[in-house]
Amino acid sequence: MSLQTSRLDRLLSKSLSIPKSDIRLLVAAGQVKVSGEVCYDVARVVNVFTRVSVNGEWIQRNTPRYIMLNKPAGYVCATKDDKHPTVMDLVKDPVCPDLHIAGRLDLNSTGLVLLTNDSTWSERLTFPGKKVSKVYLVEVANPIEAEYQQAFGEGMYFSYEGITTKPVTLEVLGERTALVTLTEGRYHQIKRMFGRFRNPVIGLHRQSVGAVSLDHSLQAGDYRDLSNAEVLAAVEQRLDN
Ligand code: URA
Repeated sequence: MSLQTSRLDRLLSKSLSIPKSDIRLLVAAGQVKVSGEVCYDVARVVNVFTRVSVNGEWIQRNTPRYIMLNKPAGYVCATKDDKHPTVMDLVKDPVCPDLHIAGRLDLNSTGLVLLTNDSTWSERLTFPGKKVSKVYLVEVANPIEAEYQQAFGEGMYFSYEGITTKPVTLEVLGERTALVTLTEGRYHQIKRMFGRFRNPVIGLHRQSVGAVSLDHSLQAGDYRDLSNAEVLAAVEQRLDN
């Protein structure tokens, strides 16, 4: 995983709004610490999660956060919304104001939503070319017919975008329930695919994203930090594809 990087003098010059020539003096005087150690190298490469201080004042001390949330129905996957509460309202976390959503769910969909302040990680997880698989438990209004299997497997043409969806796996569990696995996330994709058969989706719950599965102990609206293993596995699964 590569993070966005910057030279130390560039970061300090931008953060303190002073010219690089003055930054050189600060650094030479031993007033700058990087990762807890005095740093005399203005060209030192730092990233958004490198702790940097000047004379004991923090310039940046971001800690990477990776959160799984069990989204309830009725919450929007957005930072702000005029009509509905957002998933951000559920994460009351003052130490981490820079969280963003790594892969959205519709208003009435439920289940696994990943949140992070690490844009490199979320980009790698959501980049369409990377084919991270996402598994959804879907309930539809009418019986699922045998013909769906082939249509989902072949991909469907969406005229609005002018694209054919990547092959979708449909595992029928019951007369009106199925597991659907997507490797991309087109707008309302699952609803539109069942909609092609005039079969409305009445329940849509995301169970997993890549190698990360929703923790069953999380009630709707609850969240927890990912383990280190989950953070790595989420991204590694894609590299195998
Ligand atoms: N497909 C949908 O139609 N909605 C979602 O929330 C996710 C996938």
